[in-house]
Amino acid sequence: MSDPILRLEKVSKSYDRVGPEHQASKLQVLKSIDFDVYSGEAVCILGASGAGKSTLLHILGTLDRPTEGRVLYNETDMAKESDERLARFRNKELGFVFQFHHLLSEFSALENVMLPARFAGQSEAQARERALELLQLLGVADRRDHFPSELSGGEQQRVAVARALVQRPKILLADEPTGNLDTKNSEQIQELFFQFRLKFGITLIVVTHDINFASRFPRRMVLKDGHWN
Ligand SMILES: Nc1ncnc2c1ncn2[C@@H]1O[C@H](COP(=O)(O)OP(=O)(O)OP(=O)(O)O)[C@@H](O)[C@H]1O
Ligand SMILES: [Mg+2]
Repeated sequence: MSDPILRLEKVSKSYDRVGPEHQASKLQVLKSIDFDVYSGEAVCILGASGAGKSTLLHILGTLDRPTEGRVLYNETDMAKESDERLARFRNKELGFVFQFHHLLSEFSALENVMLPARFAGQSEAQARERALELLQLLGVADRRDHFPSELSGGEQQRVAVARALVQRPKILLADEPTGNLDTKNSEQIQELFFQFRLKFGITLIVVTHDINFASRFPRRMVLKDGHWN
């Protein structure tokens, strides 16, 4: 087998905590986690509320740094990269979908999807073309000029998925992407994720509580007490 696209080596994460008597202690959320992900894999991460799933996903996405251990992308240690290089890396290689869409309220659906492409220096015309193509694929092209507040929850989430994909990332990281959707919209988003995997060979890493969604993944990982269960 080739090398993993993403590797975690003994990753730990702790937070400083101040107790009622003002004594300091540490809250150890992740304890020496190893994790290899290969190109094109679809992995889902499960675990009880507070188990550290979002913390882990943020570390995987280089949005947060581990307290100990290493995060390697194609054998490059991300701890050695500057914040600016990490931002460029995320823009180019990673797509993020969160439980709450995080669309920018003052921009239209189309503009929201265009933003990552514009940030990367693409021309207005090129960014618009790609963004429209994705909105079409996701079935929300006719809502392109709506602001987020003028979209339904399912539509907002589909626009957020389009935004995550506009840079044609190698890896899609999603945190409860269907958490706020009804069954029909949830199934549409699930279907789209697997279609994109087939179509673009995208690697999926998805946190979900949805057993139905989880059952579609060939690889399921469960976090418990800071370890893989
Ligand atoms: N910035 C922070 N400072 C202190 N503690 C934190 C911080 N962020 C998270 N935690 C704690 O770390 C633990 C893990 O949080 P995390 O958000 O990763 O859980 P989760 O598995 O995603 O839960 P959920 O399923 O409810 O989203 C929680 O107990 C939380 O209170
Ligand atoms: Mg979470």
